Amino acid sequence: MHWIKSVLAATAICALGLSIGAPAPTASAQKSAPTSIAQAEKDQPTGSEWWRHAVIYEIYPRSFQDSNGDGVGDLKGITSRLDYLHDLGIDAIWITPMYPSPGIDYGYDISDYTAIDPLYGSMTDFDNLVAEAKKRNIRVIMDYVINHTSDQHKWFLESRSSRDNPKRDWYVWRDGKGETATDKGQPPNNWQSWFGHSAWQWDEKTRQYYYHYFYVQQPDLNWRNPEVHAAMDGVLDFWMKRGVAGFRIDAVSRLYEDPQMRDDPYLPGHNAYGDRNIQHKYTDDLPQVHDVLKEVRSVVDKYPGDPVLVTEADEPNVQALAKMYGNGDEVQLPMDFQIADVNQLSAPRFRELFNQIENNSAHGQPEYFFSNHDQPRQWDRYGDGVHNDQIAKLMAVLELTTRGTPQMYYGEELGMRTTDPARIEDVHDPIGKLGWPKEKGRDGERTPMQWDSSSEAGFTTASKPWLPIPPSASKYNVEAEKKDPDSIFSTYKLLLALRKNESALRDGSQVSINNDDPDVFAYVRKSGDETVVVALNMSAKPQKISLALESQGIQGSKLVPLYYSPNFRSDGFARIQLEPFGAFVAKVQ
Ligand code: GLC
Repeated sequence: MHWIKSVLAATAICALGLSIGAPAPTASAQKSAPTSIAQAEKDQPTGSEWWRHAVIYEIYPRSFQDSNGDGVGDLKGITSRLDYLHDLGIDAIWITPMYPSPGIDYGYDISDYTAIDPLYGSMTDFDNLVAEAKKRNIRVIMDYVINHTSDQHKWFLESRSSRDNPKRDWYVWRDGKGETATDKGQPPNNWQSWFGHSAWQWDEKTRQYYYHYFYVQQPDLNWRNPEVHAAMDGVLDFWMKRGVAGFRIDAVSRLYEDPQMRDDPYLPGHNAYGDRNIQHKYTDDLPQVHDVLKEVRSVVDKYPGDPVLVTEADEPNVQALAKMYGNGDEVQLPMDFQIADVNQLSAPRFRELFNQIENNSAHGQPEYFFSNHDQPRQWDRYGDGVHNDQIAKLMAVLELTTRGTPQMYYGEELGMRTTDPARIEDVHDPIGKLGWPKEKGRDGERTPMQWDSSSEAGFTTASKPWLPIPPSASKYNVEAEKKDPDSIFSTYKLLLALRKNESALRDGSQVSINNDDPDVFAYVRKSGDETVVVALNMSAKPQKISLALESQGIQGSKLVPLYYSPNFRSDGFARIQLEPFGAFVAKVQ
């Protein structure tokens, strides 16, 4: 095999039919690729199944853009950045909770489901955000925190006021074991909070325990009570009427608990909080969860525009994940935690999981993400400490060229990294205090968006943002990366445009090829006569690969590169060499 390295050949890169080699700069491919979002939008579906072609962008409102100089992001700040999102190629934003909240779990402890926390602005600001987003073809998805409220929610304040309060049964109250008039006894069973220690909290006034899957200040709603259903359905109606496009349903697998209250089985070892590890067998994924999903579906489907439901459901396998689709009457987009959490660059593992989800029994639309507000950012999780930026680009290709609905996390497009607090005194997220130093909490992935290289990164005018600006912001920021055609940002922008403009990437089927390759994950996207092939070198060594297009009956004589990084060489049709962690996307002609 003859591998040619020639800078001159870079100009001939568009037609890889014969022996053309090209260590061309990535920018060359970028220039020839479509970048016009406006043009792409013409092809976008307006109503039915818009979510199949959408790219969702998660915004953590505390950290995206501060408009009033208090060091905390807000709704007006988000509105002021809609042009940025539109220009990037985003179709929908999921905003994590901005409802009134004591803020123990930074918004996930909600004290009023149908209002805006003054910290983030007003309902007028919200309505304005939705209207401005709509002008830019951006839909707004809300967070529906369904498993629990804040302990300051008026429903819980009533519930805990007396044992015979009408709302007593809206939450999960139980007697302790061995409780007497003077002794609270032991918690009802061994169920554990996801955030450490017992899931039961003693309430001295009414002398019973209440159940909380998460923080003590987040009592679980009792979904066996029909009044809870009616109240929570009302929340959906409230926001749908304000023009939102759907909901991301929080912690949905935790809604029901075993009525027999059986102890969960223990697993070996201890967690970061010093508790024995436990399998949440009797508190996760009870079958009734699906009745609730069907109910949510039927409520939102009363509204036009094909509302979307996304679920946070870290299902253990594809069979459990596929159940979330129901018979097309539950959710359209269950977040795929199996793929998000591969946590190593492994071609065989990604191939296996992508093949599984492609063949899911419900034939549902996959939803892919690699970062969110609960886990260290992908730049660190997938980076090897040496090639992190290149790996970030490779992960972008994986996320944006596979068949599914991608969900990005703010700043992912810049290569933002996890910046954990250095000292326990600086930690905000309570689990970081409880589990320090093994568990540092989730502050590290929630740092302010990096807009520019100024000392506060363009996020705020306050001298002290709510979380510090990471040192990496001086180099990794929107302003700087926009100017660099080879930046992570420019890579995302290019790929987002490609997704919209190439019908094979937008609508095509996905089949993996070269299935025995231990290092390169390669797949074909095909729609009608259009075929795009993707090859991702997940190793630190150069890899030669002959793309087995014929195994899928694909004829062609040349590959037209749409994107590659850092570069590649070719010595004939479908024969390429990829650089370490190199990515290659090409159209087959
Ligand atoms: C979900 C949220 C997480 C929150 C938890 C409790 O997992 O993503 O941030 O702490 O639910 O609401």
